[in-house]
Parts: sequence; structure tokens; C-alpha cells
Amino acid sequence: MQILIEETKIQEAVSQLATSIARDHRDRPLTILGVLTGSIVLLSDLIRKLDMPLRVGLIQASSYRGATTTRGKLHVNTGLVPDIEGRDIVLIDDIFDTGHTLARLTNEVRGLNPSSLKSAVLLWKDGRQEVELTPDYHCFKIPDRFVVGYGLDYDDDFRHLPYIASLEESDLKN
Ligand code: IMP
Ligand code: MG
Repeated sequence: MQILIEETKIQEAVSQLATSIARDHRDRPLTILGVLTGSIVLLSDLIRKLDMPLRVGLIQASSYRGATTTRGKLHVNTGLVPDIEGRDIVLIDDIFDTGHTLARLTNEVRGLNPSSLKSAVLLWKDGRQEVELTPDYHCFKIPDRFVVGYGLDYDDDFRHLPYIASLEESDLKN
């Protein structure tokens, strides 16, 4: 495992993300909507850096896939989403890879009638995008490597690491 983004760099970038979100949503009814499970670390750091009134909600996306990034059928659970009608929403996820997850979530959330909808991710994997939508905010662009930590998992492990690390090909089970 090799550290790709140090903890201090992440914290700086999350502070900048908070500044941008605050600038764009000041004096608006804001709900930060975190995507389970990968966004939990980013979500908890981000909301504590947002010095403004806001609400927090959760939405769940799970795909019946293998351990890494082979795409499975995506299941979205909106049962945890609070009432967001007429509110500004910023959807928070860990990583934008092909973009299918964010595209699908965006459609689901739009159906709940927010007054506006933006998306923010910690990581954006370069050259993998397969959808037209792109995140409104992102912290880091990264090369096409499999990464873990700061919410991101490999087979449900490593989410608790405070930094982003990339796994070697030899670390991946097949
Ligand atoms: P997308 O739908 O292809 O954009 O994939 C997004 C989801 O795939 C993320 O929310 C992650 O759960 C997972 N994912 C994609 N790349 C990685 C990675 O490098 N490490 C861990 N999870 C990843
Ligand atoms: Mg995941």
C-alpha cells in the first residue's frame, strides 16, 4: 500500500470545499446529503467546517459487485432521505469513477423536488468517465489506480484510514 494523499492535504482540500459550498449556498436552506457508506468520513469533516445553518441527510447506494470496481446492479435506498423539497442539496460522495453511481443518485434525488442540486466528491479518477454529468465540486483528480481510505473501501476494509492510499495489483484478490 502506498500513500497517495496525506491527511493534512485532505484536510486543506476539505476546508476549501467547505468555503466553496458556503459561498454558493449562503442564506439558502441547505441540506448536505451523504452517500452511504463511502462518504461518511468526508461528510463528518465537511459539515464541521461549514459555519452556516444546514441539515444533514443520508442516501444509500449499493451495488452487488465484487471487491473492486467491476460494475454490478446499483441499488438506491432513498428511505433515509429527510424532506428536501424546496431546499438546496449538495450530494456528497467519495469518488467519481465511471460516474454511473452519481448519475443515478442525481436522478433519484431530483425526483424528490429539491430547489437545487449539486454534487461534490473527494476524488475524481482521471479518464474513466462514462456519463455526461460531472461533479460540481471535487477535491482531487487522481490517476486510474484503486484507492482506499478516508471512507473508501476494498471489500469493506480500510475505510477508517485518515489518508488515501493506493493498492498494488498484488494486494487485490481476484
Ligand atoms: P462509479 O459509479 O463508477 O463512478 O463508481 C463509484 C463507486 O465505485 C464509488 O462510490 C466507490 O464505492 C466505488 N469505487 C470506484 N473506484 C474506487 C476505488 O478506487 N476505490 C474504492 N472504491 C471505488
Ligand atoms: Mg464503495
